[in-house]
Amino acid sequence: KFFHLQYLLTTTFYNITFQMSVFFFTLILEDDMKRVLLATDKPFAAKAVSKIQEICDKAGYQLVKLESYTSAGQLKDAVKDVHAVIVRSDLITKEIIDAAPELKIVVRGGAGYDNVDCIAASKKGVVVMNTPGVNSNAVAELAMGMAVYMARGLFTPKTGGELLGKKIGIHAYGNVGKNVARIAKGFGMTVYAFDPFVKKDVIEADGVKVVETVEDLYKTCHYVSLHIPANDKTKKSINKNLMGLMPKGATLLNTARKEVVCEEGLKFMLESRPDFKYASDIAPDNAAELNEKFAGRVFFTPKKMGAQTNEANDNAAEAAISQIVRFFEKGDITFKVN
Ligand code: 3PG
Repeated sequence: KFFHLQYLLTTTFYNITFQMSVFFFTLILEDDMKRVLLATDKPFAAKAVSKIQEICDKAGYQLVKLESYTSAGQLKDAVKDVHAVIVRSDLITKEIIDAAPELKIVVRGGAGYDNVDCIAASKKGVVVMNTPGVNSNAVAELAMGMAVYMARGLFTPKTGGELLGKKIGIHAYGNVGKNVARIAKGFGMTVYAFDPFVKKDVIEADGVKVVETVEDLYKTCHYVSLHIPANDKTKKSINKNLMGLMPKGATLLNTARKEVVCEEGLKFMLESRPDFKYASDIAPDNAAELNEKFAGRVFFTPKKMGAQTNEANDNAAEAAISQIVRFFEKGDITFKVN
């Protein structure tokens, strides 16, 4: 009986010790496990999200999802213990960065990173990346779709115009601009570009005519398609002086950012030039007024949708999570922007 009791005590002791070790080991592992937050108020398509999950599982990372959220408070709560964040146009402010003590990297799945406070991120040693090129065809197709829509009187039965033989100006010849040029050529348009940051021969190799000044672009083209980023230099830079240079019957296409167009200047143009049209992927702040006063000459998407295709979602999602894995596993900072 004594030996039986001794045996029982010993095995219980070993059992408890074993379970405690497993418990602490799991805790250590969990603590070591990278947590990635996918924070998208405009979610990626389900297939793209599954891809992120798959890559996280393979890397041994935990994926936390915050999709279709409605307040910055929800985002602030969600970042508190994560190491990486994937966003789209979601605002990553200083307040959000300060609320994330473990944060090492923010990846904007897409091109423009004006939604991320890069200075606050740098101060905290947080790397910010974008995923350039992944959604540029989607945005370019929308720009040209808007060109057709405006030319054809917003798809009303009234007589419209054609793109064939018209001149289109690409304002900034990056990934989207390049795709717009390719598609516009298919419509038989003559394509011009202005971009002081891209070498002339690179643009000309695409069969695109380079203009030396931004004024020349607006003077020359019936259509101008905006592809400049939104920053301190470019905000409100598309003003009435520039727009006013455009020839009769001109249309300005904006799939960049609403902030780059000066809204007062735009209103002035629409008032003073009854031939002028404006289409934008996301409404300006004075959209209600413009829609009412200039119906048929303005068009705004209700929510930014340039990159909202299955293909672009797949590309952006896969690029974002792959960049995060490469950053943690290999220290790769190829697409760092801060
Ligand atoms: C971009 O900058 O990549 C595009 O504007 C797309 O933005 P979105 O991911 O918010 O649709």
